[in-house]
Amino acid sequence: MTSPAPTPLSDTTMTADPAAVFARLRAEQGHVAWVELEPGVGAWLVMGYPEILTITKQERLYSRDARNWRLFRNGTVPPDSALGPMMFFRDNVIGYDGAAHARLRRPLDAAVSSVDQRRMRRSVERICDLLIGDFAVRGRADLVADYAVIVPMLAIADLFGLDTMQGHDLLVAMQALFGSAEDAQEGNRRFEELLGGALEARRRTPAADLTTALLRHPDLRGDAEVLQSMVVMVSAGYHTTISWIAQSLRLMLTDPRFAARVRGGRLGVDDALDEALWRDPPMYNMPARYALRDVQLGGRWIQRGDALVLGLAAAGHDPRVHSGHQEREVGNRSHLAWSAGPHSCPGRVPARLITRTAVETVLHRLPGLALTAPADGIPLTPSPWTRCPASLPVSFSVPVPAGSGTTTP
Ligand code: HEM
Repeated sequence: MTSPAPTPLSDTTMTADPAAVFARLRAEQGHVAWVELEPGVGAWLVMGYPEILTITKQERLYSRDARNWRLFRNGTVPPDSALGPMMFFRDNVIGYDGAAHARLRRPLDAAVSSVDQRRMRRSVERICDLLIGDFAVRGRADLVADYAVIVPMLAIADLFGLDTMQGHDLLVAMQALFGSAEDAQEGNRRFEELLGGALEARRRTPAADLTTALLRHPDLRGDAEVLQSMVVMVSAGYHTTISWIAQSLRLMLTDPRFAARVRGGRLGVDDALDEALWRDPPMYNMPARYALRDVQLGGRWIQRGDALVLGLAAAGHDPRVHSGHQEREVGNRSHLAWSAGPHSCPGRVPARLITRTAVETVLHRLPGLALTAPADGIPLTPSPWTRCPASLPVSFSVPVPAGSGTTTP
């Protein structure tokens, strides 16, 4: 008798009911489930909250370095696999463990903690206001394409000292880079050229921005490492923040109880954002850790060289830690959306600032906001790693221009 084919990982992201998929996988396999990344390529999906803490905190047993992945080493996964961009080794902070990782990580933490949050808040407000100004008179918009996709890149570009025009150029380059079409290489070249230009400018004229903070950090050896640090921060922050904005707005627009709680003041915007991180974290499934020896986890035997995907969304549904009782859990920020351990996200402060500002500005500027598509018909951007609405078509009241004579005598 043959055992059933493993569940494709994208079944967890592309389904209408992820909780049901997690519950089925847990019932069949426990908190650590064997899934399929692409045909013939299996990996462990770690769905248990404590199990994720175990593997993210024990670098000597579970490496972040993809050169330890057996299926890549033995050629099962070809070098041109679609899994490459997310799973293959990267010569930057993401790819290393231990001291090598810590050296590349310290400059990022120092740079982020140097951010002037009040100044950043004002910049992000200006970006959001300008974008809303572009579509407010139409009374209709797609809050993903017209807004959520643009705000994070302009905001992150600003953090690195690029102006709005350069931010738009960076966005176009990034979209080409991730589009995997013929212009992907040109996108990559342009992306690095723009960040390299910011680096050169700040070497000549330092300023209060992340580029200058990275350039000054003694742990980074030369411009190449500064540039790679910039590249990894922009790339890691871009899609994740789009998803957080889009998922938070989707929750507000589709779940009437959720919207009513925000409007009625029973839920602050930050609490609402955290609820989105519990329910639909931007990195739904985070690649990956690689077992450095045979080891038992959650009752399963993991073999040396196996890949383990962090099921950050599944962990948010782990019945051992999360009751799913929304009112009772307001203020609970112990979700794993930022992961845990030495590689946990260094960008959570700017990410929250961008997302909170983006969501608040929509709520303030667009009265009567309502979805114009059925709540259960919102398309998702295909991916095994993220679960991001592809569009959020909305209508709202068009603001009446000042002095347009609406007052009655
Ligand atoms: C909604 C927003 C964001 C979410 C949910 C998020 C989440 C994550 C997660 C889950 C990881 C992986 C941790 C691991 O492998 O264990 C990560 C890593 C990382 N994130 Fe974020 N992130 C967000 C925004 C940002 C922003 C805005 C930046 C930069 C400005 C950023 C920079 C990074 C970097 C550089 C890493 C790699 C860190 C390392 O390997 O040491 N992230 N993030």
